[in-house]
Amino acid sequence: MKTTVDEIARGVHRISTFHPDFGIQFNQFLIADDEPFLMHTGMRHFFDATLAGARRVLDPARLRWIGFSHFEADESGALNEWLALAPAAQAVCSIVGATVSVNDFAARPARALADGEVLPLGSHRVRFLATPHVPHGWDAGLFFEETDRTLLCSDLFFQPGDPAPLTESDVVGVAAAAMRAGAQGPLANDMPYTPYTDATLRRLAALEPRTLAIMHGSSYRGDGKRAVLALAGAIRETLGPAAS
Ligand SMILES: [Fe+2]
Ligand SMILES: [Fe+2]
Repeated sequence: MKTTVDEIARGVHRISTFHPDFGIQFNQFLIADDEPFLMHTGMRHFFDATLAGARRVLDPARLRWIGFSHFEADESGALNEWLALAPAAQAVCSIVGATVSVNDFAARPARALADGEVLPLGSHRVRFLATPHVPHGWDAGLFFEETDRTLLCSDLFFQPGDPAPLTESDVVGVAAAAMRAGAQGPLANDMPYTPYTDATLRRLAALEPRTLAIMHGSSYRGDGKRAVLALAGAIRETLGPAAS
């Protein structure tokens, strides 16, 4: 498995491992700062590949915060491996995530963040947004790096294959096609359409992100508000009440 590392926004390093068995990328985002922040741990079974990528950016023993959207193998599976090598590291996640899963699973308790809470990292700061069931999971949340307006999107904008690290071309068309294809396969129904799905996505759009840091697929640089609203439209069409 090859792991590539690219800086996609100021101090935001994308550590990407393409996994041939899944046919998709698993992307971690490491924000290099006084208090380094890692978004997603990657799965346990390719921890060595993720770690090698992180080492190209900074000494992983310096890690301070380990964030993720929801409790799932690619988001948080290698959490204990990271906690073991970084003595000051602590997981940061939603109150639901910490209460329901993480504080039992993890070697050390997580810091549970309330909706809207800000974590200063040094010259960056990340704001936590509670986004239940977006992209999926009761415990779901997302982080927004405010100084350079980077939205850490987790599974939103999912794109298959091994595309470029960063694009300024449309990612919504690819993501919408992947969503439609996924609805026919064995992993269908990954995202529920709830009474608050659309409002949650509109709230993300209102942040006016300049960069979308995407877990599976290319990151996007451009009009993030427009991209999120277009994705919300595609989700409504594909999964909303009128879709069935
Ligand atoms: Fe997920
Ligand atoms: Fe994922």
